[in-house]
Amino acid sequence: MKKSHSDSRVIQYLDERIRLRSLLRFLLEEPMPGGARWAYVFGSMVLFTLILQFVTGVMLAFYYGGTPDHAWDSVNYIDHLHYGSLDVGRLIRGFHYWGASIMVVLVGMHLLQVFLWGAYKRPREIMWLVGVILLALTMTAAFTGYLLPWDERAYWGTIVGTNMIGLVPVVGPLLKSAIRGGSGLGALTLSHFFAIHTMMLPSLFILFVVFHLVIFRRVGPAGPFRGSSSTLEAQKEYFYPRQVLMDALAMLAVFVLIASLSVLFPPGLEAMANPANSSYSPTPAWYFDWIFELLKMIRPEILGVIGLPAIIALVLVMLPFVDKRPERSPFHRPVAVLSMLLVLGSMLGLSIAAEAGFKKLVPLDPAAVKKGKIVFEHSGCMGCHTVMGKGGHIGPDLSEEGLVGHSEHWLIVQFINSSAHFPGSPMPPFTFLTPQERHDLAQYVSSLGRTGWPDTTR
Ligand code: HEC
Repeated sequence: MKKSHSDSRVIQYLDERIRLRSLLRFLLEEPMPGGARWAYVFGSMVLFTLILQFVTGVMLAFYYGGTPDHAWDSVNYIDHLHYGSLDVGRLIRGFHYWGASIMVVLVGMHLLQVFLWGAYKRPREIMWLVGVILLALTMTAAFTGYLLPWDERAYWGTIVGTNMIGLVPVVGPLLKSAIRGGSGLGALTLSHFFAIHTMMLPSLFILFVVFHLVIFRRVGPAGPFRGSSSTLEAQKEYFYPRQVLMDALAMLAVFVLIASLSVLFPPGLEAMANPANSSYSPTPAWYFDWIFELLKMIRPEILGVIGLPAIIALVLVMLPFVDKRPERSPFHRPVAVLSMLLVLGSMLGLSIAAEAGFKKLVPLDPAAVKKGKIVFEHSGCMGCHTVMGKGGHIGPDLSEEGLVGHSEHWLIVQFINSSAHFPGSPMPPFTFLTPQERHDLAQYVSSLGRTGWPDTTR
């Protein structure tokens, strides 16, 4: 940026007072080894979604009331705010809602690329660690934001999430009631989540994003994994103008994607949270699906609830300190690349299994579930089956039978003719049950494990 006589008076005015030219030079004349590339746009795309979340979040906060009396009504009000024929309120909420999902996807892509490129290696270990912190902040933002609309999905989803925290030994119960602000979910939970979501997280985001970028500017971009340092040096190019243009186009693409999703699939609002509706089956946000499915498989569940996050955190934190070979090309790091493919493949498979499982779940009717529970307790089922720690052990534990996804028909056949499914089954045929009782019992069995999972006692 050379000083020229054609510079406008505004620029001259600002240059004299805030040293504008050297500031711009500092910001824009960052050398990019190997020249501008599309491969470098991911970080900017994540930053863009974060800024979009800040802007739309503030707009939502203008109208949002963070108490159980007002939260749902205020979100419903936002959904009905319109300007002419344009549903602005719902559109802004759509931006925030889809922005969150897209941000999780982009953070994932950014992480994968840094992993594949080996860009976490020396001297970028600390930058990677700050990135891991930013990932944790993103997940916390997703978790706390889920509760704010205060509809059925928000309420029961948070019951499940906080129950999991409660399973951690020793500190779990204390942590759970500290986060909830009491034993149940109520006004304090909502204000805790609102404060974390709108005050604590944004400040931490700013702090760590700045930290991430400062380190980035000090150690510079890792550059392509191929090519000798002399050819890369020869291809060197400044951040401005070509990389700035590429970043801007990538951000525009993200914006168009989020805007289209918000228009085509506006976020829904379920009925207001009803703590008495214990037949509601909560499902996690899609990006937590694979965790949900994996946790269902790990027994005892404490092992999964503590072990899984601990392993993920440990692998992410330790990676740059364990994998110290300077080799960066993915073509020469078969172990790293194969383990990444394995992890991605399992996440995809688990997510598909979880979604398929949710689709199969029988819809529940609270009155029938209640009557079915009485039939269950009076028919001798507990002689052989355990539910939440109570009952016999001849048959399998049914505490989470509702998550298996058996149809009502399958369950009724099981009650009246177990041998049809399990030849030689010791489970007696309960043919004396009336059709009404069979239906109620199937409803009760289908409800097991579905509310407050994994702890139905809440
Ligand atoms: C005498 C013991 C016994 C009694 C009583 C009994 N069951 Fe079972 N049940 C079993 C056994 C054992 C199995 C496992 C399948 C097998 O090996 O036969 C089973 C399987 C089931 C399953 C299928 C689990 C699955 O997904 O594979 C359901 C559901 C079930 N029982 C429900 C009930 C209900 C409801 C009652 C009461 C009306 C009941 N059972 C009473 C022994 C019993």
